[in-house]
Amino acid sequence: MESMIETLPDQFRWAAGLRVPEVPGARSAVVCGMGGSGISGDVAAAVADGPVFVHKDFGLPPWVPSLSEPIVVAVSYSGNTEETLSAVESAREAGLPIAAVSSGGRLSELAADEGWPLIRVPGGLQPRAAFGYLAGSVVQMIEAAGLAEDTGLDEAASITATLLGDGLRGPGRQLADDLAEELAGRIAVIMGSGLTAVAAYRWKTQINENAKSPAFVSVLPEADHNEVEGWTTLGTALRRTVGVVMLRDDSEPPAVGARFQPTARLLGVGATIVGEVWAQGTSRLARLASLTAIGDLVSLRLARAAGVDPVAVDAIQQLKQTLGDS
Ligand code: PA5
Repeated sequence: MESMIETLPDQFRWAAGLRVPEVPGARSAVVCGMGGSGISGDVAAAVADGPVFVHKDFGLPPWVPSLSEPIVVAVSYSGNTEETLSAVESAREAGLPIAAVSSGGRLSELAADEGWPLIRVPGGLQPRAAFGYLAGSVVQMIEAAGLAEDTGLDEAASITATLLGDGLRGPGRQLADDLAEELAGRIAVIMGSGLTAVAAYRWKTQINENAKSPAFVSVLPEADHNEVEGWTTLGTALRRTVGVVMLRDDSEPPAVGARFQPTARLLGVGATIVGEVWAQGTSRLARLASLTAIGDLVSLRLARAAGVDPVAVDAIQQLKQTLGDS
């Protein structure tokens, strides 16, 4: 898995150099996908200049056909994910334009048969280890549809290359080591807002899948209206159990930035505040990618500390087999 994370800058470079297929112009988009593929939709929504909605479920919400000139972008690494194929079927029934991102499977077959724009990403990886390919391709689709002005892919490649360094010996390593040392054995709560909430969700899912550990996301400013209350009666009981990491961004609105530390003080009654990680870069994608790279490293360090195999996802595979979704 380490080697897969090492390729993140190259994946963004690959996406930056893509020959993007012709995509119908759109005034809105709905990105459909699950798990390691579905996060590409969250990334695209954070990077886009126009309205991009994310759908992680079967079918489509009933309001999608009423959107202004929508395009449905289906993203599935395997191409066989039940929910994503069901969303595609609903889009097809509604006569909506569809574009696809996949490494193969049924989604690629459908796209080829129907003549939908398709970006085929390299196969043979775990979906979550293809983050740069998948998110980069979806962002390219969104740009080609006219919903983003600048993908930020080149900067995302260079910033992650600097952070990870050759053989993961870059400046991000020490930061990840320090955070992982504090988080090891604890349940992680990753706090973010706006763009950094997307990164927080990626941290959570990487800790879940790589380190096989529960992890949760706390989103500001909403958490200040409910969640903070939930920590007040814990006393110090959970300090050893829960660790909080805050993901910050220089461009967060000042009103949001002002809430992190007071919120952390409230959470700090019951949990250990592990630290803050600041986004780097100029473009939205680069800032998001910089936080993602650190989170990916942290999840690997946690896997090592827990003595678990970061690659295997037996529970997910078992569930997919039980449900006939392979
Ligand atoms: O990380 C994983 O393996 C999962 O989260 C998958 O990405 C998810 O189950 C969806 O599968 P796919 O990415 O092939 O559409």
